[in-house]
Amino acid sequence: MCGIVGAVAQRDVVEILLEGLRRLEYRGYDSAGVAVLDASASEPQLQRLRRLGKVQALADAVAEQGLPGGTGIAHTRWATHGEPSEANAHPHVSGDIAVVHNGIIENHEALRAELQADGYQFQSQTDTEVIAHLVARAVSGGADLLTAVQQVRSRLEGAYGMVAINRQTPERMVVARSGSPLVVGFGIGEHFIASDQLALLPVTRRFAFLEEGDVAEITRQSVRIFDLENQPVEREVRESSVEHDAGDKGEYRHYMLKEIHEQPQAIANTLEGRLLNGQLNLEALGDLSDVDAVQIIACGTSYHAGVTARYWIESLAGISCNVEIASEFRYRRPVIRPNTLLVTISQSGETADTLAALRQAKELGITKTLSICNVPGSSLVRESDMTVLTRAGAEIGVASTKAFTTQLTALLLLTAALAERAADASAVQQRIAKALESLPGLIQQTLSMNDDIERLAEHFADKHNALFLGRGDQYPIAMEGALKLKEISYIHAEAYAAGELKHGPLALIDAEMPIVVVAPHNDLMEKLKSNIEEVRARGGELYVFAEESAAISAAENMIVVPVPACDDVIAPIVYTLPLQLLSYYVAVIKGTDVDQPRNLAKSVTVE
Ligand code: G6P
Repeated sequence: MCGIVGAVAQRDVVEILLEGLRRLEYRGYDSAGVAVLDASASEPQLQRLRRLGKVQALADAVAEQGLPGGTGIAHTRWATHGEPSEANAHPHVSGDIAVVHNGIIENHEALRAELQADGYQFQSQTDTEVIAHLVARAVSGGADLLTAVQQVRSRLEGAYGMVAINRQTPERMVVARSGSPLVVGFGIGEHFIASDQLALLPVTRRFAFLEEGDVAEITRQSVRIFDLENQPVEREVRESSVEHDAGDKGEYRHYMLKEIHEQPQAIANTLEGRLLNGQLNLEALGDLSDVDAVQIIACGTSYHAGVTARYWIESLAGISCNVEIASEFRYRRPVIRPNTLLVTISQSGETADTLAALRQAKELGITKTLSICNVPGSSLVRESDMTVLTRAGAEIGVASTKAFTTQLTALLLLTAALAERAADASAVQQRIAKALESLPGLIQQTLSMNDDIERLAEHFADKHNALFLGRGDQYPIAMEGALKLKEISYIHAEAYAAGELKHGPLALIDAEMPIVVVAPHNDLMEKLKSNIEEVRARGGELYVFAEESAAISAAENMIVVPVPACDDVIAPIVYTLPLQLLSYYVAVIKGTDVDQPRNLAKSVTVE
């Protein structure tokens, strides 16, 4: 979602803040802003600059104007309340107070009315501006900044992370976390705050993660943290293992392409210590011996990983499995069977709907929860009983790639663990182990399809619609392929279970509708071939990804792209790659913003 960076230092901080924003830009990118306090001036000044568009527009403005000062806060925005505009960009200012904020203040309308009645004038349509005025009102009533933020916190409903500075006390910032992550960075004689440690890696590797309800007062010399009851608390300071250059594109034109190519290594990292010399080592996953049913909850791409896992868990482990989109689950009254394991899947571990669904499931009586997550220390990890970290490394491209295939890898490990009580447990586990052992190499081999797919992409660039078809555990892969194409090329794409074609979508088939089929050589192959014929008979243009042994040959209106042969059990992971590459190259030809597609954000920390 939005990104926050702040700093208190002896040196000028604006470049640190801008670099932090660049590193967070993938989270939200419709406008950006910075406010800086210069304590060395005889009369401390609060200077603010905001720009519509990317961080670079803000950096250009800063370069032109200069923005000296050792205390500053900065923000890159993904609009929720109020259109993207300079007036709605953060920081928001009220008198001497400047504020940046992630999340949503749900009672902002009532607070706005109250503040307007009190004479405060609003300059923006945002919910954030109420925080600036509330803090300013508390400070003008005599509170120091820390007390003011603590008082204001009790008035705010919703999920947020916020940072406030005050021109009258220029060498400090006060931050509050409630439902939206914040991390304090420790330097030498300087301190930082950010919504993600990635923003601060150029300046420090030592971090403390704030917990729900924490408020912290940060100066150059000290970090004082208080809990919900305003009692002082300690939060452990840890050395980060995230690589400093995790935010660099390296030799690649886009983060997405870099991350697609990182998949062999990322998957090997997921398997490390969990698959040793062909043997699964699943103890670290936790005790699953009493699990009679599985409920999976996730959003977006992570949801597609969950839908794939349902096929595995039911067919290989023999355990009943439901999968649901988090935003639906949380507002339903689901009936939970006894001994249900709740599995949440999330790249970021901060997706608001997934977190809310986890909490809702606990209230419904689920006692065993496991998260599949890429971010250690994230809210989801902290609130789950067990975690399987995917270890994909930082994913910057908004369209998820390596996070997805590592989630699938982790879910296959989970399937193997759940299969423990199956009659054929050892055969299932051996098969999964063997298939997973071959996986990093197979993925590397699949990447060599790159050039073929780049050429294929030409056929899609001028189309307005596309269909993706798959059967069985390839149906969710078709869904993921369609999502990738929509997200980054803006071509409308739909996925169908191929058996559903005749119940409606066949009416759409004509020469203008490319149809992508994922066709591994499995026991549904003959059925799929019939579906392919149904499309051909109606003049559709087919692009079939299939392994050679499937004996599907190119024909009029049908291009067949060979995919390396693999065990069926890992075919969903292998067939994901060509679809990622296809959407990537279509987007490149169309000239869209591949890494930061319009209207989207990487981590959706609001409802
Ligand atoms: C956003 C991202 C998607 C992601 C989804 C769920 O919509 O753009 O790529 O799949 O959130 O995110 P999570 O971090 O929970 O996996």
